[in-house]
Amino acid sequence: MDKLVIDGGIALKGDVAISGAKNAALPILTAALLTDEPLHVDNVPHLRDVSTMLNLLMQMGVTTMLDDKGGVELRAAKITEPVAPYELVKTMRASVLVLGPLVARLGEARVSLPGGCAIGLRPVDQHLKGLQAMGATIEMSQGYMIARAERLKGARICMDIITVTGTENLMMAAALADGTTVIENAAREPEVIDLAACLISMGAKISGAGTDVITIEGVERLHGARHSVMPDRIETGTFLVAAAVTGGDVRLTGARPKTLDAVLDKLRESGVHIETGDDWIHVKANGALKAVNLRTAPYPAFPTDMQAQFMALNCVAQGTARVVETIFENRFMHVQEMQRLGADIAVEGNTAVIKGVPALNGATVMATDLRASASLVISGLVARGTTTVERIYHLDRGYERIEEKLSRLGARIRRER
Ligand code: EPU
Repeated sequence: MDKLVIDGGIALKGDVAISGAKNAALPILTAALLTDEPLHVDNVPHLRDVSTMLNLLMQMGVTTMLDDKGGVELRAAKITEPVAPYELVKTMRASVLVLGPLVARLGEARVSLPGGCAIGLRPVDQHLKGLQAMGATIEMSQGYMIARAERLKGARICMDIITVTGTENLMMAAALADGTTVIENAAREPEVIDLAACLISMGAKISGAGTDVITIEGVERLHGARHSVMPDRIETGTFLVAAAVTGGDVRLTGARPKTLDAVLDKLRESGVHIETGDDWIHVKANGALKAVNLRTAPYPAFPTDMQAQFMALNCVAQGTARVVETIFENRFMHVQEMQRLGADIAVEGNTAVIKGVPALNGATVMATDLRASASLVISGLVARGTTTVERIYHLDRGYERIEEKLSRLGARIRRER
């Protein structure tokens, strides 16, 4: 199994290009199921989750063609197998995103229940509730959700919980439904807006994406289109924190700072100097960082996907920070690993109290999810001596060539098998 070996203590310096967003690319790829014409998607990040999604779509009969610029053309001329099997869903929960498009286009979908996951239970009841409101019947059989509908009908759906992929699934389903659907208490994440933009370019009638009420007027059919995936705000945030903790001076290009207000505010609060343009961010750290309290919540508040990375920052900052995780019930798995590096963290329930220490010391650590792995890489970059991060297959799910990008910024980091 691959691991990353990091010799810490180098300040990151230079330019780094941000890749397309994983969490925008995944739903956008599944949107190809909604039309028999080609959907060309540009700026698709090269990640394991993206390969998994492409495999899943190909198993269903979608043809895919990669171009040499990081784009992919998908064509769902005929869907032969409207099934997301357990073997794929268990490795990537975002597979559930095929549910809405399949029922809408074919009137049938069989998607494995995802089961538990390292960061929490993560049920999909809201996805199902929405589809049922649109007239689908749902049956559970042998671990699979089987959804059927002659043609989905527009409905008024009030989500009990703000859910990102739930909102995306229902928006895609509603695009081909008969009549108007209103999703209330919708997720406002930028990735929802990016998916809506792609669907609109395919002929969907959607308004309100980016607010908590999205209105979708169903159409008979959607057509082919070309869409470029937005920059990854979590990859951006991860490089910003890496630069900050190492006392670095880094310019991130191809980024979208407007999607990162809460993260940039927290970095400024910690004492980091930040400058932004439309598509770039310059981060410069001078001297010691200050501890920052934070509480994760749906967009535009502080993202749960940046909680672990800021925990790494707080480990070496001056003062004590309280970090409250409100989205997932088990997203502190990185804490014990950070303690192995010498961090002073106490966890009670969904709150972690972090007392900054003068230095972390290298050790072997491993992570159980993607963002936790990223936080351990950051810890390794700032720790004294050598840190080995094991099980980096989690990292490969969501960060494109992270060790290459970090090496180019001067980090001493290498992949070993
Ligand atoms: N929830 C329910 N019922 C549902 C759906 C969600 O109770 O039907 C709960 C979840 O258990 C969780 C909360 O609602 O406690 C929010 O979950 P959400 O559905 O918003 O998460 P998701 O759509 O499964 C996406 C991202 C995650 C990110 C979360 C929160 C994708 C593919 N995944 O997941 O990304 O953490 O939103 O912002 O978009 C990651 O990239 O590392 C990652 C985990």
